[in-house]
Amino acid sequence: MDFYKVIDKRRTVRSFSDRKVPKEIIYKILDAGIKAPTYNHLREWDFLLVNDENTRLSIVKAEGIPDSVNITELEQNFIDADSHAKQMYLDAIPRQKSMLLKAPELLVVVFKPKTKVDKSKSVYDLNCLSSAWCCIENILLAMAAENLFGVTYIPQKGKEVKQVLNVPEELEIAALIPFGYKPEESNIVPQKNIDLKTRIHLNTW
Ligand SMILES: Cc1cc2nc3c(=O)[nH]c(=O)nc-3n(C[C@H](O)[C@H](O)[C@H](O)COP(=O)(O)O)c2cc1C
Repeated sequence: MDFYKVIDKRRTVRSFSDRKVPKEIIYKILDAGIKAPTYNHLREWDFLLVNDENTRLSIVKAEGIPDSVNITELEQNFIDADSHAKQMYLDAIPRQKSMLLKAPELLVVVFKPKTKVDKSKSVYDLNCLSSAWCCIENILLAMAAENLFGVTYIPQKGKEVKQVLNVPEELEIAALIPFGYKPEESNIVPQKNIDLKTRIHLNTW
């Protein structure tokens, strides 16, 4: 697939068809991830694939994701929000639990922090996290090239989720990525159009 078509194709999807993802395709997209740029040349990333139902349920519990969401209340919360952001939150919030539980695959990207995230004092200290996100973007683009869709979810209770997954103390979770094939009908929230000219600054701001 043409590279720029892949860029456009990668969109966030939060509901999935039951179709299984072949193991060799999963390997291919993770291989694209591990080739991403990395601040120390070491690519200190690990991938967990969580298929066990009870483990996924424990993640949802650790995160404190509610069983259901009151849509009327939710709409009220975003009444003054940017309309694109509002559409996104109205799509996302009610699906946080189901996407983590029902996606055919749940990928967890783990990285080795140079400086503990809570001790970081500069963007430089976060090079390891930035590198992990290069890896994640490669994965998302490789998924798009394979007709797969997913969503990135950052745990708010990282410590608890690490315990559920038995991730070693010295490592951190960059993101959980539920992914799979898109059902015939699924919502893709329109992207906000950005006038690129207003975001480009020459020489100084
Ligand atoms: C760092 C990061 C955190 C995100 N966290 C969540 C999340 O917690 N739940 C969710 O449903 N989507 C999450 N998303 C997905 C965004 O909502 C989505 O990327 C955004 O609305 C733009 O849509 P697009 O990916 O289709 O272009 C996250 C994306 C990023 C990059």
